[in-house]
Amino acid sequence: MSQKSPFTLHCLSTECDARRGEVRTRQGVFQTPVFMPVGTQGTVKAVTPENLMEMNAQIILGNTYHLFIRPGHRLIESFGGLHRFMNWKGSILTDSGGFQIFSLKELATITEEGAAFRSHLDGSKLFLSPEDAVEVQQSLGSDIMMCLDTCIPFPSTRDETIRATELTTRWARRCRSAHSRREQLLFGIVQGGMYPELRKEHAEALIDIGFDGYAIGGLSVGEKPQIMYDMTRETVASLPADYPRYLMGVGTPEDLVEGVWRGVDMFDCVMPTRNARNGSLFTSKGKISIKNARFRDDHSPVDEECGCYTCRNYSRAYLRHLFQAREILSYHLNTIHNLHFYLTLMANIRKAIEKDNFARFRQDFYSKLEYE
Ligand code: GUN
Ligand code: ZN
Repeated sequence: MSQKSPFTLHCLSTECDARRGEVRTRQGVFQTPVFMPVGTQGTVKAVTPENLMEMNAQIILGNTYHLFIRPGHRLIESFGGLHRFMNWKGSILTDSGGFQIFSLKELATITEEGAAFRSHLDGSKLFLSPEDAVEVQQSLGSDIMMCLDTCIPFPSTRDETIRATELTTRWARRCRSAHSRREQLLFGIVQGGMYPELRKEHAEALIDIGFDGYAIGGLSVGEKPQIMYDMTRETVASLPADYPRYLMGVGTPEDLVEGVWRGVDMFDCVMPTRNARNGSLFTSKGKISIKNARFRDDHSPVDEECGCYTCRNYSRAYLRHLFQAREILSYHLNTIHNLHFYLTLMANIRKAIEKDNFARFRQDFYSKLEYE
């Protein structure tokens, strides 16, 4: 059914399920495990594509739901697609809108046909079927498209979970049939809540349809981290080894290390960018809140170990001042640091897997944490 896998394996850890590989898209190749900065509305908030390139970002994420509502996929298509519209030369993965519509709660109604919802901007009535989700993503020209799925709240009963998961399978089949531009990759999304046997069944149903990669959805929705790690392990166990695996919407630096340990290749999360704008900065010793009075007179960089533009040039005291004064530059400098932290963490993870010392890396990573 599916064409050749876009994934090439470079090496496997002998200590855990971690793997080092690459994914080929029509835009080029990205190295895995990878973190994808989130660029919901055709921009990774507060940074330019040049900044992202300097930080060695390889692939970013965009959102079908937001771009469909504003400015509209036809407009973006008329500019030659999202890459050209936003001037990003790396790869782009677009999420399908399933998760955003789920987040709208009372503004959305799910039927067999698709999702009816009201625009969060002007309240106008809109509808997105699985076929529409693929069509919109094909016009955006993303390198990796996601199937329209239904994400359920946590906790959900087994019956509710079965119903949502079966609907997601029927939608996945429809997405697969609507997928006409085969140079763009299409990933299926495994749901199944916190029920390992439903996740296994769902993974098998999606593999049967045949996709270019498989995502693990419906996690990080309020369950404890250990449950999320267990569900990740259970799901990965049902996925084919020769296709990319993507853990959606995850997570903290610890979650990335644990996800890679369990065999995940791709991650995305708003955490580094959103936290940056709230003044919450990641360091090798844990998170700090830059507004804290203890940084008032602090001449040191955010993280002594970090080589980012922000850490090379600015003190914690200056960043605290910018944040307190609500200066625009605060968002920019904080975002550069946090994204650099995430992207460097992933680059170091890739090196550790290559040297087959990821267990040691993981131990060192935890032993450095002081603040939390
Ligand atoms: N982002 C985080 N989790 C999910 C999910 O379950 N589905 C989709 N489409 N996007 C997500
Ligand atoms: Zn830095």
